[in-house]
Amino acid sequence: MGENEFTSLKGKKIVLGVTGGIAAFKAAGLASLLVKSGAEVRVVMTAAAKEFISARTFQELTGQPVSSEMFGEPSNYRVAHIALAKFAELVVIAPATANFLAKAAHGIADDLLTTMILATTAPIMVAPAMNDRMLSNAATQANLETLRRRGFEIVEPNDGRLACGTSGKGRLPEPEELAAAIDWHFERLKARKLEGKKIIVTAGGTIEPIDPVRYIGNRSSGKMGFAIAEAAHRHGAQVLLVTAPSVLSDPYGVEVIRVETALEMHDAVLKEYETCDGVIMSAAVADYRAKTIADEKIKKSDETLTIELEKNPDILFELGQKKQRQVLIGFAAETNNLESYAAAKMKQKNLDMIVANDVTVAGAGFNTDTNMVTIITRGSMAEYFSLMPKTELAELIIKRLEKIFQGRQ
Ligand code: C5P
Repeated sequence: MGENEFTSLKGKKIVLGVTGGIAAFKAAGLASLLVKSGAEVRVVMTAAAKEFISARTFQELTGQPVSSEMFGEPSNYRVAHIALAKFAELVVIAPATANFLAKAAHGIADDLLTTMILATTAPIMVAPAMNDRMLSNAATQANLETLRRRGFEIVEPNDGRLACGTSGKGRLPEPEELAAAIDWHFERLKARKLEGKKIIVTAGGTIEPIDPVRYIGNRSSGKMGFAIAEAAHRHGAQVLLVTAPSVLSDPYGVEVIRVETALEMHDAVLKEYETCDGVIMSAAVADYRAKTIADEKIKKSDETLTIELEKNPDILFELGQKKQRQVLIGFAAETNNLESYAAAKMKQKNLDMIVANDVTVAGAGFNTDTNMVTIITRGSMAEYFSLMPKTELAELIIKRLEKIFQGRQ
């Protein structure tokens, strides 16, 4: 494998954490590849790692002192864990032991490496390596899941011969494979075309109270909007997710404001509108709210009950009126004449793009994991898509958004 293969590593500042597993020796091969590819590498070792490989090896390979102690070690840094945390553009832990994963998942900071992990804002990649049973243990899997949810990149261990003599999943990938994963990390960053853009995404169905215990609501789950917020974040945007009640948990790296009513959603979105570059309104906003909200629980005394409703503001319409540079993307849930209604809505609300779906189609629309849509972008032909997961649709919508920004440059 040629040394110029990893073209995205040149000049990258990487902290390589080495923990105490038999595969620690492979970290030397990795350090060597990273340095040869032009990366600046600083190595942090745990005490156990030093039982497997000498700090001296890494020092020679990187031309830099190796750190491992919090205290008492002569070092180039005044406060080592902070200096390293700031230095890193990427932290890579290879190999990562079960013990390290457990500590990282729980925020335990009892040595230089685990303390530095808490102090850094750089992305963290971990390459677990251990006995197959330790890897499949429920505790390890739960810790990996916690880290994954927090945005750690996990390099999957390989299947193969393990140090303990058995065979199974748990082998640290070879240095070339690890270097490729790191190179790929930086390669992907280049594709983050929404870097520097602030995007507001709305999600879920607003609820409109009629008395202290009841409300008028709809079946929206928030899945579409949450997936869009995640995709926008992945593409480098600063994302604000304004969501009506949803059981979904906050997406990683996204600022979340939870609201209940259309009026609250209106205020939260409008407050940030001027400073944002785009809004994707995937929320199912109630068109009407109760004119008066009863102070007491409404009693079931009469045979019929009339609740007078008044119109909610059309948030998207208002954004369209106030639009300056912002890109506006709306949704249209229709039951008939999908394309013509959507096109009319796009014009009426002054949108740049509309995502229309026929809610009568099975698997499309509210409270499903899939959607089937037609996308109309201003000045282009309508695009028809077949049923696809909402996560995939989210990616597609974000790609269209990037194209709109590109077209404006
Ligand atoms: O006009 P219609 O409700 O079909 O338009 C749907 C689009 O308008 C969606 O993007 C929805 O989020 C948005 N909307 C809104 N405020 C409302 C109703 C809908 O922003 N009161």
